[in-house]
Amino acid sequence: MDILCFMFISFKFLLFVEFSYAADTINSLQSLNDTSGATLISNDGTFELGFFSPGNNQNRYLGIWYKNIPVKTVVWVANRLNPINDSSGLLMINSSGNPVLMSQNTSVVWSANFTKQVSSSGVILQLLDTGNLILRDEQDGNSETNYLWQSFDYPSDTMLPGMKLGWDLRTGFERRLTSWKSPDDPSPGDFTWELEPQQNPELIMWKGSTKFFRSGPWNGLRFSGAPELRPNPVFVFSFVSNEDELYYTYNVTDNSVISRIVMNQTEYQRDRFTWSPSSQSWTVYAVVPRDRCDNYGLCGSYGVCILSESPICQCMKGFTPKSPGNVDWSQGCVRNKPLNLSTIDGFIKFPGLKLPDANHSRVNGSMNLKECGLKCSQNSSCMAYANSNVEGAGSGCTMWFGDLIDIREMTASGQDLYIRMSASELGSSDGKKKMTLVIVFTTIGVVAGVLVIILGYVIHKRRQKKTTGKPLELIDPVLGESCHLSEVIRCIHVSLLCVQQYPEDRPNMSSAVLMLGSDGELTEPKQPGFLMDRKLHETGTSSGKPESSSTNEITISLLEAR
Ligand SMILES: *[C@@H]1O[C@H](CO)[C@@H](O)[C@H](O)[C@H]1NC(C)=O
Ligand SMILES: *[C@@H]1O[C@H](CO)[C@@H](O)[C@H](O)[C@H]1NC(C)=O
Ligand SMILES: *[C@@H]1O[C@H](CO)[C@@H](O)[C@H](O)[C@H]1NC(C)=O
Ligand SMILES: *[C@@H]1O[C@H](CO)[C@@H](O)[C@H](O)[C@H]1NC(C)=O
Ligand SMILES: *[C@@H]1O[C@H](CO)[C@@H](O)[C@H](O)[C@H]1NC(C)=O
Ligand SMILES: *[C@@H]1O[C@H](CO)[C@@H](O)[C@H](O)[C@H]1NC(C)=O
Ligand SMILES: *[C@@H]1O[C@H](CO)[C@@H](O)[C@H](O)[C@H]1NC(C)=O
Ligand SMILES: *[C@@H]1O[C@H](CO)[C@@H](O)[C@H](O)[C@H]1NC(C)=O
Ligand SMILES: *[C@@H]1O[C@H](CO)[C@@H](O)[C@H](O)[C@H]1NC(C)=O
Ligand SMILES: *[C@@H]1O[C@H](CO)[C@@H](O)[C@H](O)[C@H]1NC(C)=O
Ligand SMILES: *[C@@H]1O[C@H](CO)[C@@H](O)[C@H](O)[C@H]1NC(C)=O
Repeated sequence: MDILCFMFISFKFLLFVEFSYAADTINSLQSLNDTSGATLISNDGTFELGFFSPGNNQNRYLGIWYKNIPVKTVVWVANRLNPINDSSGLLMINSSGNPVLMSQNTSVVWSANFTKQVSSSGVILQLLDTGNLILRDEQDGNSETNYLWQSFDYPSDTMLPGMKLGWDLRTGFERRLTSWKSPDDPSPGDFTWELEPQQNPELIMWKGSTKFFRSGPWNGLRFSGAPELRPNPVFVFSFVSNEDELYYTYNVTDNSVISRIVMNQTEYQRDRFTWSPSSQSWTVYAVVPRDRCDNYGLCGSYGVCILSESPICQCMKGFTPKSPGNVDWSQGCVRNKPLNLSTIDGFIKFPGLKLPDANHSRVNGSMNLKECGLKCSQNSSCMAYANSNVEGAGSGCTMWFGDLIDIREMTASGQDLYIRMSASELGSSDGKKKMTLVIVFTTIGVVAGVLVIILGYVIHKRRQKKTTGKPLELIDPVLGESCHLSEVIRCIHVSLLCVQQYPEDRPNMSSAVLMLGSDGELTEPKQPGFLMDRKLHETGTSSGKPESSSTNEITISLLEAR
């Protein structure tokens, strides 16, 4: 009888424990009391809110951790700055509707701050399955727009799926990660990770006021410095930039994957962990910065970090180390040939890069690459440009002002960057022959004319020799074997544009260089000036469109052959 009674009481007690402990909400009449060990547990049992003491620290903190993971992993801390030195902590909703954390019954060590006026009676605090602790009116549905306050807006060192890293631009409110001081101390440490709200935003990691990593600007698919995502990713990332909001967020596509990003306390890094059920431990999925080349500004301005090189810091083509012998990389590189800082300067394409520090850059999403290059060449402080969006064939325009810093080579998914160079440097670089041709053609019309006549002659001769001749065979005496057919054709096309009858029809040098460097559409060349002259001579009339000469015919047919 006694035993039965005892069992009955125990059963009732267990039921009571079960019911009172499994709640995911408290209302204005309830509280969470450290002494009684009460916690909130999210509906599906993933997360738990309660009091804890980290590491060897005896102080008490209110926090959120995973309920079902044996390794106690705290993802959020309320009173980071004000620990409670005993177990008197009490979380409640005060009569103004604010969640407050009290110690010793009187002093408020933490409170949730929101502006909307509410009556406390209908307000509830709820721990969601996402790990988000929210305050809302009980009558209102569970939707973000109804939240009076949410812990996701006040991250500690951990970013959970669905959290936003960035800005509410309407209120100027920022969400960023701040490391703990140490495993024993959740108060804010030196390391932070945030989205920099500059005109061309980037994720930045700081130690104090020293920038040590940046993501590179968002390029429509990913951050410029991020590796290409493999197909079927477990994670989906998004970058939202509109008038109201600017943030980075991620989610898991499979709800059974438990994942978190943590800003480390001691290392210059943030770690993305996933829970491994088989080993019952956290596995590091990815660490950022990934390698030495991710160290901010390691190679100084106009230096490029190439992991496979020794030393890993190299100067970009056309630049020389500032420090003799390249011993002090941070000094960066200087130009071999000074810029003219007018439209005479050209641009060299450097493929496969993480784009430079975007702080002093500007984006215009509606300009194409050609317009971008023209605009850049017209501004003497513009040092480089690139597509702002790499989706598809690429679109939009980013221009960099001032020296370029923190460039690295990417093994995959790098981007093309067009760097301003002295015209004489263009002549000595990769596209040496075609660049030289263009410079000659654009600056000295007469010589250009002569060259085209020669070209025309060569083509003519070759055609006579071999009527089924392939374009490359026609060209090889002028341009050599290293040329690609499409480049050759493009080169001839641009050359013809450069020697059109009327100067206003001719492209200036920078646009000619651009035309050569890109794959964009080119306009049909009009009659070259010198042929027009000949024609005028022959017919004695100045009216009408001149008939096609054989040179022109051949050129056009070559262009169609593409
Ligand atoms: C907290 O819980 C303890 C033990 O259950 C109890 O003695 C104490 O009165 C409670 N404190 C408050 C403020 O409810
Ligand atoms: C605990 O903190 C309270 C104030 O928050 C202080 O009055 C008290 O002396 C502290 N107790 C200990 C043991 O440090
Ligand atoms: C409730 O807490 C908030 C935040 O700490 C505070 O501003 C407000 O005055 C408190 N209300 C009352 C009635 O104590
Ligand atoms: C706690 O506060 C209540 C009312 O706010 C008061 O009645 C009670 O005596 C206080 N207890 C202690 C231990 O200060
Ligand atoms: C509460 O919010 C207001 C305005 O948003 C801010 O000025 C104030 O410092 C905040 N208080 C706390 C304790 O965070
Ligand atoms: C994240 O993905 C899950 C499904 O995998 C979905 O239920 C949830 O709404 C998503 N969360 C966000 C914030 O997009
Ligand atoms: C910080 O990094 C070290 C070394 O990788 C690791 O042991 C530690 O767990 C990390 N800290 C956190 C909070 O993730
Ligand atoms: C730029 O080039 C023009 C034309 O060749 C020349 O007159 C001018 O002196 C040059 N300026 C600089 C700064 O090199
Ligand atoms: C961007 O540049 C401005 C002005 O030079 C500077 O004040 C700011 O700290 C820079 N921001 C970053 C993230 O480097
Ligand atoms: C972007 O470029 C287009 C085309 O050149 C121009 O009309 C527009 O004003 C530019 N927008 C900004 C914000 O500069
Ligand atoms: C060059 O562009 C910068 C940044 O947009 C602007 O501040 C500056 O006025 C421009 N300079 C010229 C000469 O247009």
